[in-house]
Amino acid sequence: MKETINGLSVFLEGSSKNKSIIFIHGFPYDHTMWKAQIDELSKNYFCVTYDIRGLGESPVGDGQYTMESFVDDLEIIIDKLKLDKPVICGLSMGGYISLRALERMQNRFSAAILCDTRSEADNNEGKLKRAAAIKRINTEGLAPFAKDFITNCFGDNYKKNHKEEFEKQIAKSSSFDPVGVKGCLLAMIGRNDTTEYLGKIKIPVFVICGEKDALTPPPVMKAMADKIFGAEFVVIKNSGHMSPIENPEEVNAAITKFLLKV
Ligand code: MLT
Repeated sequence: MKETINGLSVFLEGSSKNKSIIFIHGFPYDHTMWKAQIDELSKNYFCVTYDIRGLGESPVGDGQYTMESFVDDLEIIIDKLKLDKPVICGLSMGGYISLRALERMQNRFSAAILCDTRSEADNNEGKLKRAAAIKRINTEGLAPFAKDFITNCFGDNYKKNHKEEFEKQIAKSSSFDPVGVKGCLLAMIGRNDTTEYLGKIKIPVFVICGEKDALTPPPVMKAMADKIFGAEFVVIKNSGHMSPIENPEEVNAAITKFLLKV
């Protein structure tokens, strides 16, 4: 079922009587990146996902986003749906939103799943790369940037064995409004570092990383997990940065096992 909340497209699967999980996608993707998880987990959980402002079906507005405004949107969705302590599950940029949401309102969640993400803010080199990406989108249009960025996200195994899906993903992201994509890049440039807060997280946390993740590699994510009291860490085989898409069987099994304990 689809609902519009605060202008955003929100998607609900499973019985609302069950424990809820809210899934937050990465950049430059949309809610459909969680399809394999939602197909499986909605049998036992109320699964909520949405398109982040500026991406997918959600409106672009003025394209002036911050990590704070992304967390505001998340909070409004949780309030409107009256979700009682959902599990928060975010990948990469969705992980940045999740980490900042934990910093702002940890008591609103029962557990967190952090996939292929990091707590550090962009360093100078990272900020310049994003500025160059904005310039490239302005001069060449969105498609060449989307193709290169997405190519770097996926591992070789997926690109070779799922060529058609991979090409479809590039085509879909290339069709997004460039204003929304650039707005997300600016929000990521401007985000705070959440590393200091990791030691203050009290809820159960599960950290998931694709073994071939080139953007947030296993050592970076293991170091993050080590800073969170009691956090579990798992490396997903045959996967790059997009582990829920690249190896859904292993990701689903790992998440299911974690959820049974929380
Ligand atoms: C993502 O997958 O959300 C991006 O890799 C995040 C980023 O560019 O930092």
